[in-house]
Formats: sequence, structure tokens, C-alpha cells
Amino acid sequence: MATFKELVSKCLQARDMAYCPYSRFPVGAAILTADGAIITGCNVENASYGLTVCAERTAIQRAVVEGHRQFTAIAVTCDIKDRFVGPCGACRQVLMEFGSDWIVYLTKPDGSYKETSLSELLPLAFSPAHLEKN
Ligand code: THU
Repeated sequence: MATFKELVSKCLQARDMAYCPYSRFPVGAAILTADGAIITGCNVENASYGLTVCAERTAIQRAVVEGHRQFTAIAVTCDIKDRFVGPCGACRQVLMEFGSDWIVYLTKPDGSYKETSLSELLPLAFSPAHLEKN
């Protein structure tokens, strides 16, 4: 069973794989699945800039294709050293698709982290439950 320390270290490793020749802003993410696996992602940019995919969404897509749909935590990191940086709004919404109960570790390059939650990062969210018929 993976621990949150491994999760934090895996997101730092994933950041080193980022393909970001345009922004030169590498981001890494690591998702902890309910059954204890860790799935990583990095940002993958494109010459057609709008096709860029964030690290968090790369990780989610990898996780789903590998059969995971239940998640407990995500660690995210970038190169900013002096403050904790959260996932972009689009990624918050994509995480919300798989529940509001995520722990989120905002991780600095030195491995220090701030623990928060998806509900805190995306309050009053639109979610799959809203599509259920009344
Ligand atoms: N980026 C992420 O990978 N995740 C985020 O939550 C914010 C932004 C990436 C997208 C782009 O490759 C670079 O960071 C600069 O925006």
C-alpha cells in the first residue's frame, strides 16, 4: 500500500518528465487510487498551444484507462519554491468527476507540502450528482 510520502516523491519524479518546451513550466502529479496504486502524470504541451494537457489530467486519464475510478489523494508540484500552488480550475473540475473526497497535497520542489482537499479547492462544485433526475 503506497503512502502519502511516496505520493509526494512520485509527483516530483513525474514533473521531471514534463514536456513543456513552450512554457518551460514543468508540472507533476501523482494520484493515489483506493486500492493503493500510484498513477503519475506530467504536462504535455503542443505547438497548437490550446491542445496542452495538464499534469493532473494526464494522470487521471492514465488511471482510468488502467481500470481505476476510485481515488483518495493527489499530489501536485511545479518549480515554484516560495509558495504552495494549486491545480488549475479545469483540473479541479476533472478531479471532481471522481468525487469530492480527495486529499490534495500541494507540493514544493523540496518535497514540503500543504495538505488541502478538493472540496476546499472547488466549493459549491457542479458534479455528476447534478445530472441525476429529480
Ligand atoms: N499546468 C498543469 O500541468 N497543471 C495545472 O494545474 C496548471 C498548469 C501546465 C499547463 C502548461 O503546460 C503549463 O503548466 C503552464 O501553464
